Amino acid sequence: MVQVIFLGPPGSGKGTQAARVSELFQVPHISTGDILRTHVAQQTDLGQKAKAFMDRGDLVPDGLILDMVLDRLHQPDAQKGWILDGFPRNVAQATFIEQVVLQQKAENASDNANDKSLNTINLEVPDQVLIERLLARGRADDCEQTIRHRLQVYHEQTEPLIQFYRDRNQLSIVNGNLSVDQVTAELKKAIVAA
Ligand code: AP5
Repeated sequence: MVQVIFLGPPGSGKGTQAARVSELFQVPHISTGDILRTHVAQQTDLGQKAKAFMDRGDLVPDGLILDMVLDRLHQPDAQKGWILDGFPRNVAQATFIEQVVLQQKAENASDNANDKSLNTINLEVPDQVLIERLLARGRADDCEQTIRHRLQVYHEQTEPLIQFYRDRNQLSIVNGNLSVDQVTAELKKAIVAA
């Protein structure tokens, strides 16, 4: 079973690469940012609560995110694996997904005798390259002030997960500052090797 988490700062290519890797390994690409943007566009209750946080570049509170992710992971297409893009973003979310994966493993122990453990991949890209990429993309939250705040939030809340997964021996590092095709090739190697 392929269960891959893409870590990495805003603009590191998580979404671009998760879509490609999802095709390669035939498992769904689950992006919490995309799910949230759909809620905002549809003006659901969740979308209305999340919008101000997203516009500022802050994390949406865990109380709004965890059920949303659990719901998505329970859908039929996610039973054979997934690529998680943008989740987890802090230690509480990482602890949550760790418990979900452990519980799934316990439930499917007889089916998954050769199962690989969770694989987390950090895409490394220098901050200045990230800023240039995001300014060129121009999504609603891609103005310079919000980009810099998203980067600060990443360094404070998400970057500690690199050590969290290193401690569990579940971390691969991939250079995201290469061409899109080169990054995909490196990711494929890292996933197959894990
Ligand atoms: P989210 O949508 O997850 O945004 P992000 O993490 O800021 O990431 P981006 O989508 O900006 O970048 P990416 O790494 O996916 O790069 P991409 O492939 O797009 O989150 C948005 C907001 O939602 C958050 O701020 C928060 O408010 C909320 N949120 C989401 N998840 C949450 C959670 N779990 N908890 C709480 N809140 C949450 O590439 C960027 C650009 O670079 C593109 O234009 C692309 O074409 C280009 N590019 C990609 N790769 C390359 C390359 N190799 N070379 C050159 N250009 C490249």
